[in-house]
Amino acid sequence: MDKYVVRGGNPLFGEVEIGGAKNAAVAIIPAALMANGVCRIENMPRISDVDLLLSILKQMGAKVRMVGKTIFEIDCTGVKHSKAPFDKMRRIRASYYLIGSMLGRFGNAKTAMPGGCNFGVRPIDQHIRGISAMGAGVEVKGGFVYAEANHGRLDGARIYMDKVSVGATMNIMIAATTANGRTVIENAAKEPHIVDVANFLNSMGADVRGAGTDTVKINGVADLHGGAHCIIPDQIEAGTYMAAVAAAGGEVLIKNVIPKHLDCIAAKLREMGVEIKEYEDSILVKRTRPLRRANIKTLPYPGFPTDMQPQFCAVLCMASGTSVITEGVWDNRYRYVNELKKMGAQIQADGKTAVIEGIESLTGAPVAACDLRAGAAMVIAGLCARGTTEVEDVSYIERGYEDFVGKLKCIGADIAVITEPDEPKSTDKEAIAG
Ligand code: EPZ
Repeated sequence: MDKYVVRGGNPLFGEVEIGGAKNAAVAIIPAALMANGVCRIENMPRISDVDLLLSILKQMGAKVRMVGKTIFEIDCTGVKHSKAPFDKMRRIRASYYLIGSMLGRFGNAKTAMPGGCNFGVRPIDQHIRGISAMGAGVEVKGGFVYAEANHGRLDGARIYMDKVSVGATMNIMIAATTANGRTVIENAAKEPHIVDVANFLNSMGADVRGAGTDTVKINGVADLHGGAHCIIPDQIEAGTYMAAVAAAGGEVLIKNVIPKHLDCIAAKLREMGVEIKEYEDSILVKRTRPLRRANIKTLPYPGFPTDMQPQFCAVLCMASGTSVITEGVWDNRYRYVNELKKMGAQIQADGKTAVIEGIESLTGAPVAACDLRAGAAMVIAGLCARGTTEVEDVSYIERGYEDFVGKLKCIGADIAVITEPDEPKSTDKEAIAG
C-alpha cells in the first residue's frame, strides 16, 4: 500500500508534459474490439485504468503490443467470444464500453455490471435505453448485464437522451457503428473525448458525424478494419496542474495541451487572480498574488468540468472571502470535504453545494484519497499546506494520473511515495474511480 508524503510550501516552477486523455483512452481500448485488424494507438496515457482494460482484452484473446513508450498496437481479430473477465470488469467503471463493442462485434454481450461507485449512484439506464432502442434485449440480473441483438445485429435508431451522459453517448456511438442503418443520438454529450473516440472509430472505417455537437449521427457499416489514432491531451490532467500552480504559487509551462479545451478552467483561474498565457499547444500559469474568491458551477462540456471540482475546492480554501461551488453533474461528489477539513479547511457541503470560507493556510494532516480527483485535491492541498500531509489510498490517483509524483517533483514539489506493507483488502477499496 503506497502513500504520498507531501511537504507544503514550495512554489512550482518549470515545465510539465501532459499525457493522453484518460477518458478517451478508456473508451478507445474497448472500441478496438470492434476491429478486424490492428489498431495503432499513440499518446496512450500510462495509468493503471489503461493497464486494466488492456489486460481485459488480452484475457479475451487480443494481442497487445507496446511499440513505443506511449504507443500500443491492439489486434482483436482473434477474439471469438463476447465474455469479458467479470472480476476485472467490476474494478473499472469504463468497462461498460465493452457492452457496446461486444454488441457491435458479436451481436451479444455478457458482462458484469461496471464497478461500484465512490461518489454516489452511477446508473447505466441511459446506456441500456439506447441499446434497447437499437433492438437489443437487455437483462440486468445478479450483478450481470446480458444483452442480445434481436436478429444478431443491432438496428439503427433515433435516441433522445433523457440526461446528458458522456458514457452513454460513447457506448451507443460505438455499438451503432456496425448497426443496420442510421442511428441518431440527440441531446448527446459534447466532451472533447467524444470527438476523439468518433475520430478513432472513423479511422477504422466507421461513419460517425456530428460528434462534439448535441446531435451525433452514425451510419452503420458492415464491419470495421484496423485503424490508427493519436489520443488528445488530457484536459483534466492539465487542469489539475493549473490548479496546483494556483494553490502553491510559482510559474509553470504546461505542455502538450489543447488550450481551447482549457478555456473555462483558465477563465476561472483568471477571475481568481492567476495569470494565464495561451500558446499553440501549451499554457503558462503564473501565480504571484493572493487568490481571490470565486463561485463555480460544474456542468457538461463546455461548462466547468465536474472532474475539476475537488481540485478547485482545495485551491479556494486559501482564497480571500467566501466561495460557493455548485455540483451540476453528480449527486454526491463532496465526500472528500471531510478530508480537507482535517487540514483546517472551512467548508460546509450540503447536497449539491459547498460553501468555502477562505483561510490563511491549511495545515498538513493524514488524509485519504476518496476517489481519483479527490486524491488529486488532497495532493494540491498538501502542496500549499503548512507542514506534512500524508495521502493514503493513492491507487485511486494512479488510475488516472500518469506519473503524478514524478511530474510534480520535476516542477519543484516536495512529494515522495512511501510503500507500506499491504493490509487485507476491503471491498470498499475495490470501488471505482473513472
Ligand atoms: C464520465 O463518467 C467520466 N468517466 C467521469 O470522469 C466524469 O465525471 C463524467 O463522465 C462526467 O463528465 C469516464 O469517462 C470513465 P455520465 P460517466 O454518464 O460517463 C447520470 C473521472 O474522474 N447518468 O456523463 O459515467 C449520472 O448519474 C471520472 O475521470 C444517468 O442518470 O458519466 C450523472 O449524474 C469520474 N444515467 C450524469 O448522468 C446513465 O445511464 C453524467 O454521467 C448515465 C449517467
